Amino acid sequence: MKYGFFDDAALEYVITTPKTPLPWINYLGNKEFFSLISNTCGGYTFYKDAKLLRLTRYRYNNVPYDNNGKYFYIKDNTDSACSVVWNPGWQPVKTTLDQYECRHGLGYSTFTSSKNNVEAKVLTFVPMNDNCEISKVTITNNKETAAKLSLFSYVEWCLWNADDDMKNFQRNLSTGEVEVTDGGSTIYHKTEYRERRNHYAIYSVNSAVDGFDTSRDAFLGAYNGPDSPDVVAEGKCTNSVASGWSPIASHQINIDLAAGESKTFIFVLGYIENPEDDKWEAPGVVNKKPALKMLEAYKTEAAVDAALVELKNYWKELLSNYHISSSNEKVDRMVNIWNQYQCMVTFNMSRSASYYESGIGRGMGFRDSCQDLLGFVHLIPDRARQRIIDIASTQFQDGSAYHQYQPLTKKGNSDIGSGFNDDPLWLIAGTSAYVRETGDLSILKEMVPFDNDMSVAKTLMGHLKCSFDFTATHKGPHGLPLIGRADWNDCLNLNCFSEHPGESFQTFGPSEGPVAESVFIAGMFVKYGEEYAQLAELLGDDAEAKRAREEIAKVYQAAITAGWDGEWFVRAYDAYSNKVGSKECEEGQIYIEPQGFCVLAGIGVKEGLAEKALKSVEERLDTKYGVMILQPAYTKYHLELGEVSSYPPGYKENAGIFCHNNPWVSIAETVLGHGDRAFEIYRKTCPAYIEDISEIHCTEPYVYSQMVAGRDAKFFGQGKNSWLTGTAAWTFVNISQYILGVYPTHNGLSINPCVPADFGDFEITRKYRDAVYHISVKQNGVQKGIKKLTVNGKEVSGNVIPYESGVKEYTVVAEMG
Ligand code: BGC
Ligand code: NOJ
Repeated sequence: MKYGFFDDAALEYVITTPKTPLPWINYLGNKEFFSLISNTCGGYTFYKDAKLLRLTRYRYNNVPYDNNGKYFYIKDNTDSACSVVWNPGWQPVKTTLDQYECRHGLGYSTFTSSKNNVEAKVLTFVPMNDNCEISKVTITNNKETAAKLSLFSYVEWCLWNADDDMKNFQRNLSTGEVEVTDGGSTIYHKTEYRERRNHYAIYSVNSAVDGFDTSRDAFLGAYNGPDSPDVVAEGKCTNSVASGWSPIASHQINIDLAAGESKTFIFVLGYIENPEDDKWEAPGVVNKKPALKMLEAYKTEAAVDAALVELKNYWKELLSNYHISSSNEKVDRMVNIWNQYQCMVTFNMSRSASYYESGIGRGMGFRDSCQDLLGFVHLIPDRARQRIIDIASTQFQDGSAYHQYQPLTKKGNSDIGSGFNDDPLWLIAGTSAYVRETGDLSILKEMVPFDNDMSVAKTLMGHLKCSFDFTATHKGPHGLPLIGRADWNDCLNLNCFSEHPGESFQTFGPSEGPVAESVFIAGMFVKYGEEYAQLAELLGDDAEAKRAREEIAKVYQAAITAGWDGEWFVRAYDAYSNKVGSKECEEGQIYIEPQGFCVLAGIGVKEGLAEKALKSVEERLDTKYGVMILQPAYTKYHLELGEVSSYPPGYKENAGIFCHNNPWVSIAETVLGHGDRAFEIYRKTCPAYIEDISEIHCTEPYVYSQMVAGRDAKFFGQGKNSWLTGTAAWTFVNISQYILGVYPTHNGLSINPCVPADFGDFEITRKYRDAVYHISVKQNGVQKGIKKLTVNGKEVSGNVIPYESGVKEYTVVAEMG
């Protein structure tokens, strides 16, 4: 069942009912100021850091779903005997609407709704160059007679640190302060300004108002929720000025509209940070100049419309970096629009703020952000560059790394600490992707601190060497890399022996156990070790490349011997040196990670093991909704395995369909030339392909979720944790670089598709370094193999388009066969 449809021409997903199975959200903001907004106008706003600088409040574990939001209430008083109150996004009042449509676009959302012949259109977005969210609200009277309406706005301020805001009531109920100017049109939220902090927020409308409220209790009534505010029921605001408790911002505008008449209002929710030496006009009085400048910029409809055009053009331009035109509408839609969009969002958010990540628990993940780079680097290489430096700056001198860091401070999070032994290698993955994309070797020579301490700095290449050496020097009795607290699978805690997994990372035990080893990290080491060796060669250090390859060969050997179980790769060895993910185990006999990663790294291909491993995946892990992470599911808790066995069978890391590593297997299939199978795996978790089963899948049909419940789960096929998942980057890498086969190498773009036999011809436009490549692939019913490659009319040998300095356009014809 569908709850909407894709409008590809507009680059939008159109939701036609507010009653989606779960809130279906969008992200506004591209750089530092962000909002989450659901299809019923729920969500919140923050600047840079969802924990530390939160502008508006959200309620967790909310009932009903999805509150708080930034709401508009329309009170229709035309018939004074029975006035009606409704919201353009349906929530929070939930008055049945005569019409409802929400369009989530790239960085903006619109809501068009009507009730009793009054139409409201709300357009909301964060402009490219300002720290604010604009809502343009147009009310139209479609009645045959004049309408008497009141419009109320409503936002509830968060007292900045969202974590403290939820806990420290003894203090926070006394600190809230606001200031109201222009008769109520502009409301300043200045809690914390008194302590000489340099930031405040505003909520303002570009018209005169009939009043305002800034005290939540005054607006709602002490025992009411946003679904039944007293002020809206009365139709009269109270001009309350909050002092402590819960400050809000609400405007009231009474609107008389003749039949057919419309009026538009522009609301601006903004964040202002004053320069350090310019914090206040007088103690406690905010310096309003920058706020007034911001408001001035968006005073008129024309200015707002121009800002929206600028945003849309920005996205059009970005998306043109990789564009496919094929006969597969759903592939085109995902590649050209939604997958790239999700890559931007994961790049911006890492795993911090979504409807499933509270924004207060996790900041930027080391491994997460490194992987996000893989799907983002072709969009804005400069931002990727900065991110790489930021991440590397949280590394320790021995190559290990803080598992997470806070986006505002960019400092490692010591509550969580380090000890995840895959982390270091992901830095090589992200850096190599950047260098292959840009050819910019200067980044490797940049001095980067360890643990943010510039007195102990090395070049970025020096950091990568630390990463490489960390794995090379932390191996167990089978010659396989030590797993530490966990590898990519956070829940495989082979050294931690926690009685209470999942409560927080702090419940974990010692950071590194005696012998637990990871075959998955072995796969990573072979793959990213080789990428490290190539970077060393590019810098002219052949000796280092040689040394690296010798180390890789050892781990390769361990992987195909101790890491091989006869039909598939073992997952790990536990702290007692027992196999994990082996036919010798009672449960959890086969895991997806080493099959996907070892094969995509090329391990076991020439020995014939890779074919077997992928066959085993197909036989044992595949379902109609994707490939499960392990089988058979653990039915009881194993102290020696940790959190993985704490989940009920079929959920999350215990035999869920973890979307993140489905592309690894799909890529592995392309390595073996199996285009049909690679695509089948791609298709099964691909949002556009499963839109039809939204009532089962539940999460947004335009983005990936972290997990789909596996076959053992009660709700087989149900998605969870949408948006912030490495799935976004990895599926984009899979489809764009392996299935469609346009892969950036150090020497130029390589063209080597691996597609289903019936895929048909396709064309790709790819911007790469300084040039645009127009690539046309004649597929000839073939799954893999290029028989002829022509570049600007000249036939070239091999798969790589030779880079020619000064050439700005390449016309490439690739004939498969
Ligand atoms: C989840 C993992 C996640 C980890 C870190 C675990 O509870 O199952 O998917 O990576 O927490 O937040
Ligand atoms: C989600 C985490 O963000 C990611 O870092 C981890 O690799 C996966 N879960 C698997 O546990």
